[in-house]
Amino acid sequence: MKRALWLSLFAFVVIGCNSGDTAKAPEGGGAAPAKPEAGKKLVVGFSQIGAESDWRTANTESIRSEAEKRGVDLKFADAQQKAENQIKAIKSFIAQGVDVIAFAPVVETGWEPVLREAKDAGIPVIVSDRRPDVPEDLYVTFIGADFVKEGEMAAEWLAKKMDGKAKIAELTGTTGSAPANDRAKGFRNVLANHPEMEIVFTQTGDFTRAKGKEVMEALLKSPQGKDIKAVYAHNDDMALGAIQAMEEAGIKPGKDIIIVSIDGVKAAFEAMVAGKLNCTVECNPLLGPYLFDAIEKVAKGEEVPKRVVIEDKWYDESTAAAELPNRKY
Ligand code: AHR
Repeated sequence: MKRALWLSLFAFVVIGCNSGDTAKAPEGGGAAPAKPEAGKKLVVGFSQIGAESDWRTANTESIRSEAEKRGVDLKFADAQQKAENQIKAIKSFIAQGVDVIAFAPVVETGWEPVLREAKDAGIPVIVSDRRPDVPEDLYVTFIGADFVKEGEMAAEWLAKKMDGKAKIAELTGTTGSAPANDRAKGFRNVLANHPEMEIVFTQTGDFTRAKGKEVMEALLKSPQGKDIKAVYAHNDDMALGAIQAMEEAGIKPGKDIIIVSIDGVKAAFEAMVAGKLNCTVECNPLLGPYLFDAIEKVAKGEEVPKRVVIEDKWYDESTAAAELPNRKY
């Protein structure tokens, strides 16, 4: 099957709002445009980060089921949280001559050489979920949430809940990843307006429940643990691990310590209904339909926006019970 048309575009679209304009990129740049032959299946290589969280599981399921629904031949590679595995997978997709490559980069840096190889081979690359720190001409479109905004929403909710005063422990995501960097940044943007909201502890829990629990256990055993009034976790899984650690230490999560996290997975809603988690900022993992809309357009040589932002909103204890039956992940 021949390779798809490489288009690099400069528009920005927010899903949920009216879309923006699209525009074609300047000519040239190493792409070898060609459409899949009629009657042949579109072949897509997707490099996934791993299976670190409920969010990731839902994201993988959305991508796999959408590919199946559309009759796409999906070559799916799970990198087990390692950038080197993603680089190997992308190189293998290039060697196989897939029509389109899509990937969710585990960390921001280190992608330029392999994306240049894809571009030189004329294979368009679509970025899903996390942003890589590369020149924009190395990918066609980036589909995912605004992580800075998510961090800002979490901080705004917490500042209101705590009347502008709290000693906060922050459980950060995978070091060097876009969501960890941006969620930390967004949270601090808002805290700058609240001088008595203070981050007194910050440590990575790598987006997993087990590490979230481990970090919180150690914190609660330390002298610093007694001062903590609030926890900001960069995802629900780490918050759920921290909740377990608090309960084992005889602390009432959601009451003695106020907890805000990000993702909006079903288990977070259940924890809010049980009064153990206070707020979650939704980050929609169901990217499959957006991703394959873009893939099919790119394969047909149609234009796509350079950036597609999936809009988020927050839910707290006051809305969790009503929303729980509607949760899809
Ligand atoms: O990149 C999205 C983040 O990755 C989710 O918030 C987190 O749960 C996942 O591991």
